[in-house]
Amino acid sequence: MEKHIENFLNKVSLVFITIATITLLYLYLHTPETCIPPNTPITKPHLKFPSSTCDPSLNRPYIDPDKKRLKLWSSKSWLSQVSSFTTFFQSSNILNNKTKVLCVSAGAGHEVMALKNMGVSDVTGVEIVDSLPLVKRADPNNLPFFDGVFDLAFKECGGEEVDAIAGLFRKSMFVGAENVTLIGMRMTRIIMRVGVSSSL
Ligand SMILES: *[C@@H]1O[C@H](CO)[C@@H](O)[C@H](O)[C@H]1NC(C)=O
Ligand SMILES: *[C@@H]1O[C@H](CO)[C@@H](O)[C@H](O)[C@H]1NC(C)=O
Repeated sequence: MEKHIENFLNKVSLVFITIATITLLYLYLHTPETCIPPNTPITKPHLKFPSSTCDPSLNRPYIDPDKKRLKLWSSKSWLSQVSSFTTFFQSSNILNNKTKVLCVSAGAGHEVMALKNMGVSDVTGVEIVDSLPLVKRADPNNLPFFDGVFDLAFKECGGEEVDAIAGLFRKSMFVGAENVTLIGMRMTRIIMRVGVSSSL
């Protein structure tokens, strides 16, 4: 290759390397445009929150757990689910204020709240994930309770699980069940009278 062409090519590649480096530096230092600066006027509702996607402290605003709970408990969906449980428990007609009830797979605790609101004071809700103060953490298949602690057990499950649940509560008496569809999910609710020597 002729000397001057070689020199030229060397220069060209040096220029490209420089451009690449500057581009990288620019990308590194420059705030990506996909971030929304805090003062952007809100034109689209989906950009409303958080106020800046670049500020990690704003992505997870701290919410007082008590306030969060009160907000959840006053939501329409929560109230309608609680009221649906209340109707079911009232129709079962086997509860009094002293009935000791165990709610298995209690989720966020709708049924626990329904029972407490009805005046049943001894209600224990358990779920794999706790939702205090209504629901404590416990493995539904390995409940840390002694025999005879509860009068009734309540569980909501998929329709095909009913037999498996009945098996879980051996020496219990099937009291009642109902199929419900809430928030688009079909579930079967089961109440069982827990035998004194139940396998719980
Ligand atoms: C509990 O007692 C109150 C007051 O006597 C009564 O209104 C309520 O119906 C009772 N709840 C149940 C589940 O029996
Ligand atoms: C609930 O639905 C299932 C079918 O999905 C049915 O076999 C069962 O009898 C129903 N239970 C009640 C209590 O209606």
